[in-house]
Amino acid sequence: MTMRRREFALRLQKLAWATAAATWMKPITSLAQTERKWNNDPFAWGVASGRPRPDSVVLWTRLKVEENDLQSRTTTEEPIAVAWAIYSDENLRQLIQQGTVLTDSVRGHSVHVHVQGLQSAKPYWYQFTSGNAASARGKTRTAPALDAVVKKLKIALASCQHYEQGEYIAHQDIAQHDVDMVLFLGDYIYESSNPRHIIRKHGSGEPQTLQEYRARYALYKSDPMLQASHAAHPWVLMWDDHEVVNDYANDRDQRYTDPKIFLQRRAAAYQAYFENQPILFGPNLNSPSRASMRLNEQMAWGQLVDIWTLDCRQYRSYHACADPLRGGGRVVTGCNELDEPNRSMLGMEQEKWLSQGLVDSKRQWKIVAQATQLSSTAIQTPLGQATYTDAWDGYPQSRKRIMQNITQAKLQDVVTLGGDVHMNVAANLRVQPNQEKSPVVASEFISTSITSRGLDESVLSTIRANNADLLHARSDERGFALIEVSPSGVQCEFRTTPFPANAKASLSVQATYVVKSGVAGPQKA
Ligand SMILES: [Fe+2]
Repeated sequence: MTMRRREFALRLQKLAWATAAATWMKPITSLAQTERKWNNDPFAWGVASGRPRPDSVVLWTRLKVEENDLQSRTTTEEPIAVAWAIYSDENLRQLIQQGTVLTDSVRGHSVHVHVQGLQSAKPYWYQFTSGNAASARGKTRTAPALDAVVKKLKIALASCQHYEQGEYIAHQDIAQHDVDMVLFLGDYIYESSNPRHIIRKHGSGEPQTLQEYRARYALYKSDPMLQASHAAHPWVLMWDDHEVVNDYANDRDQRYTDPKIFLQRRAAAYQAYFENQPILFGPNLNSPSRASMRLNEQMAWGQLVDIWTLDCRQYRSYHACADPLRGGGRVVTGCNELDEPNRSMLGMEQEKWLSQGLVDSKRQWKIVAQATQLSSTAIQTPLGQATYTDAWDGYPQSRKRIMQNITQAKLQDVVTLGGDVHMNVAANLRVQPNQEKSPVVASEFISTSITSRGLDESVLSTIRANNADLLHARSDERGFALIEVSPSGVQCEFRTTPFPANAKASLSVQATYVVKSGVAGPQKA
């Protein structure tokens, strides 16, 4: 027994965490398969799948291991075996693959299974078991073959789900829709509370440590409507700031904490993120701080779409003209630092990766999924232009380079998707925002938050009046957006409710916009 535990520990130490995902998924055969008797449901946090590719998906669960379940076996902790199985039918009769993996407290009892060798463009159903316990069934889907002719891609676009500020009715709606994937663009958890709008409570303070971030995820994952959304579709994920702390930029937080200390917190937050999501790669333990983790990826949906997910937090330049007492984003006027050419929202490496990818893409639609807002919300004031520095307005040269690249490469059919700002947005994107002489080169859709409260209408009406490129901007309702990509166009249906505090509320269509192939800029449907 001791020997096996030592071998297990050694095996984990040997491999870097970039490859650790694979380590964690290694099937085992030597573990004695004595029936484990659970006193509590270890699958109480649900199941999930993600990262759909033509031949693979990632299956996820995280065991909820309570005190009396540990003690029932032994006083020293040992790995727990979890069996998984994937089927081609919803009644779980046609078994396609199965296996067993080990997990333990080092990884927060999370389970990531990278199932490979699947058929493309197919639905699959899956389930986990451990001893006498079985999980809920999940449904997932593989992407079409890279060269497949595809007529449609349906995405549920979502972000920003402050637990305290509403019920996850948008997720219930997503679960009931027939979509190919959920694209979640950040603020999956919130670290902080806002004393206004509390309908239920985190019940604990701001997480700083790995244990505290794990506990915060556990709370969010306990919500049945969120679980339903995960169980119904594969998710493609990008984070924003609240997965760590509000308005952090790279290795800096709003309090200007010593970066060495802040990176320890970031490492804890990133690890907890990995442990709680159906993604393939965890933190890079080869990096000195262990606080780096690559999340940005490119994926395709047949010949129809290329999708890039962009990390707008980990590599960004610090906020321009930040308040020396309280950092992060704010509204600034007369800030020359904004236009410094070496400032980047993505970091130069990621920015080049995106630009090259866009130019090289052979697929019709190019979808750029990023965490915040590309279109401008700046306001003209007697003191000059007032700019909010946390979104892309705070990185105007970075935005300009991306738009110029689209123009110079004569790229058509570029649509950006975003989140973070808690409002529905349909907008024109130009090299020079709002300048009629500067042609529209791409289109932006941002879905409102699942629950997090938005800007006051008085502020937003001023923003709209100052930014002609905002064709639609509403912050008063909560929900998500249904995005349908087809060869002829991309349709965005904003589905919302004004009553996010009511678990029985239902969503309805606030507005529908379309981007027609070959014509940049959304049009009202
Ligand atoms: Fe948010």
